[in-house]
Amino acid sequence: MQSDLFSAWLFLLRWIHIFSGIIWIGHLYFFNFVNVPLQGVLDKEVKPKVNPQLLPRALWWFRWGAMMTFVFGLVLLFSKYGLPGSEGNLWRDADGGMTGRAQWIMMGSTLGTIMWFNVWFVIWPAQRQIITWVKEGQSPAEMPALAKRALLFSRTNAYLSGPMLFCMIGPNNFGYFSWTVFGLVSAGAVFVMWGMIRMGFKVGQTV
Ligand code: HEM
Repeated sequence: MQSDLFSAWLFLLRWIHIFSGIIWIGHLYFFNFVNVPLQGVLDKEVKPKVNPQLLPRALWWFRWGAMMTFVFGLVLLFSKYGLPGSEGNLWRDADGGMTGRAQWIMMGSTLGTIMWFNVWFVIWPAQRQIITWVKEGQSPAEMPALAKRALLFSRTNAYLSGPMLFCMIGPNNFGYFSWTVFGLVSAGAVFVMWGMIRMGFKVGQTV
């Protein structure tokens, strides 16, 4: 039995984890559904005025939301599951195999960690460089390729977010891990994301 204090600790960790996850993924969706279509229609002269004000702010919440989610996710992982091989943890079932919930969360944590890595080591460095160039009024030849790279990784994260979230809620909602369920849900989530990215170019242009 877990003590009340330990349950409260897990509850608090989960709350912070999900709250920061909303900040992160909310901004990821803002970039993909709102900002990319907006940048396509903004006048060239307006961009150097708007973007150095808007993007650093949005990117601050985006990358620190990602960091908080990741750090609290890891604390949650070790608080709840212990270390593999330690006594009384959630990793092993009675037959010594990996539990279904551990399989879900390993899959979710792996996807989440790839997304966090993309934010901190690809998207943010590329955007920082682009914003610096825009601020200085430069547009070097490498700029379009760098913008394309940032967009590609941002899109990848948007596509990964659906399967990742499913794996996060898997431990508490599915007793067993199934590649079929994971594959079907992932395919559905990727299709929904594909539609929403396209919708972003069409909706909300008038009041
Ligand atoms: C970045 C790497 C991440 C790691 C290492 C991680 C780790 C974890 C862990 C260990 C749990 C507890 C699972 C359990 O109750 O058995 C969890 C739950 C959860 N996580 Fe993550 N997570 C990450 C990213 C995210 C992101 C980006 C979101 C988006 C909002 C998210 C949303 C959730 C949700 C909704 C739960 C379910 C809590 C519950 O059912 O009580 N996680 N995560």
